[in-house]
Amino acid sequence: MGCEHVAIIMDGNGRWAKAQGKPRTAGHLVGADNVRTIAIAANELGVKYLTLYAFSTENWKRSADEVNYIMKLPAVFFKKYMQEFLDRGYRMNIIGELDKLPKNTEKVLRDAMDESRNNTGLNLNICMNYGSQREIVLAANAYAKDVLEGKKELGIDTDEFEQYLMTKDFPPVDLLIRTSGELRISNYLLWQIAYAELAFVPVSWPEFTPEVLKRCLDEYSGRDRRFGGVKSE
Ligand code: IPE
Ligand code: IPE
Ligand code: MG
Repeated sequence: MGCEHVAIIMDGNGRWAKAQGKPRTAGHLVGADNVRTIAIAANELGVKYLTLYAFSTENWKRSADEVNYIMKLPAVFFKKYMQEFLDRGYRMNIIGELDKLPKNTEKVLRDAMDESRNNTGLNLNICMNYGSQREIVLAANAYAKDVLEGKKELGIDTDEFEQYLMTKDFPPVDLLIRTSGELRISNYLLWQIAYAELAFVPVSWPEFTPEVLKRCLDEYSGRDRRFGGVKSE
């Protein structure tokens, strides 16, 4: 089965920077540049949806300096690369509660979505102020509201529930990659990875190269995905 949808937990920026004797923010800057490199590589390797975890609902716990730096990065990133992404036909989707971001950050992200909305190439999905538990709670509330207003019946199935998720327009995740060697999910796409294959790689995000991505995809293609059935002959 092909790998249509790759999700990545881009972890290890801070430790990478520290190991170079630099502030954590230097890792985030290099990490943002690597988003472009890996998006190009993923597209060339046939991936149709690349969903990247950039800032979680839990990352607000970090120092104000670090959070402020990350909130300014989208403006820097899209100024450098948006024209190239448009030329390459990428469609930008931002997933998360955007209205809780600083106003300028929200505007930059919404503009990127608007400018690329007619593109049909790689879907480059960036999760910003995203948390999976929050997403599911919001979906449950939206469904309850529709029931109260008489727009929906009680007793929807999984396909209908998915329509309330922030990822309703995208297929399920085929392969989830986490960089930096941590073996956890950190509140990422809990619903969407129900049957994803998992890859945990020991390199930090700034060191995650197209070659490492290719190795993950090669390994994925050798996996036997059963979805609860029996081993294919
Ligand atoms: C991932 O790198 C980027 C964000 C979570 C914003 P980290 O900043 O978590 O780097 P480490 O894990 O502390 O090294
Ligand atoms: C997950 O990384 C979030 C992002 C990559 C944006 P964290 O560094 O926040 O995860 P924990 O704290 O190690 O679980
Ligand atoms: Mg981390």
